[in-house]
Amino acid sequence: MSMRAPVANLPIHFDDVSFAVHGVTILDRINFAFVPGAPSVVIGPNGAGKTTLLRLAMGLIQPTSGRATWGGRTDAPLSRRAIVFQRPVMLRRSVAANLRYALEAAGVSRADHDARLGELLALVGLAELGDRPARKLSGGEQQRLALARALAKDPQVLFLDEPTASLDPAATKAVEDLVRDVAARGIKVVMSTHDLGEARRLAGDVVLMHRGRIVEASDAAAFFNNPITDGARRFVAGELLI
Ligand SMILES: Nc1ncnc2c1ncn2[C@@H]1O[C@H](COP(=O)(O)OP(=O)(O)OP(=O)(O)O)[C@@H](O)[C@H]1O
Ligand SMILES: [Mg+2]
Repeated sequence: MSMRAPVANLPIHFDDVSFAVHGVTILDRINFAFVPGAPSVVIGPNGAGKTTLLRLAMGLIQPTSGRATWGGRTDAPLSRRAIVFQRPVMLRRSVAANLRYALEAAGVSRADHDARLGELLALVGLAELGDRPARKLSGGEQQRLALARALAKDPQVLFLDEPTASLDPAATKAVEDLVRDVAARGIKVVMSTHDLGEARRLAGDVVLMHRGRIVEASDAAAFFNNPITDGARRFVAGELLI
């Protein structure tokens, strides 16, 4: 575990946050907070605004209006937050070299690289594949390597944008198990998916988005057993939100 002084990244609070590009509203007056605890799962159809919400919560883009805060601050550094994008890009190097690069970027001292490398490879189940070219890994293995790279930052909050989108059931299960491991270590996971089953399996709380708005946000049991809005009821029933 890291000895670095704690930085309060949570709660991540959105106060009337909107985000627009060239006058087109992509997120519309979001009032919501990600709080410590089990994974928060952002769910909704294509184009709902899930990725944009994650990018805002990570601090990669700024609200056009409204305010986003991390632990009450608008300027909390990104150093203890990490994000895995929908289509992670690997360096044209070995698995281990990709991880060493991430450790270097995270400011981990050279003396600690070997130990951390071993720990991260074991955590994501890639201990045997350290010497393989990263770009030759299967989709599921690449996703797990991307997770390990993100964990090199020793994050307090880990954002995962549709981490299982193109994976088969076995690879999906491996990533979902890893998400549970990471959450059990006390890391706050915020992930997006358009897979209702995945949300049921992993979520502590659910945020349903549609057309740039939050339709409903509640703890997972309430969301699935007793959805309040018509949109959430239809989504949980498996109808298409268009
Ligand atoms: N920088 C941008 N410029 C213009 N339009 C954008 C930009 N970023 C997002 N959008 C648009 O905003 C909407 C929401 O995009 P976003 O990627 O957040 O949705 P999503 O819920 O992640 O969708 P998906 O499930 O397909 O990944 C989309 O219509 C997208 O085209
Ligand atoms: Mg997306």
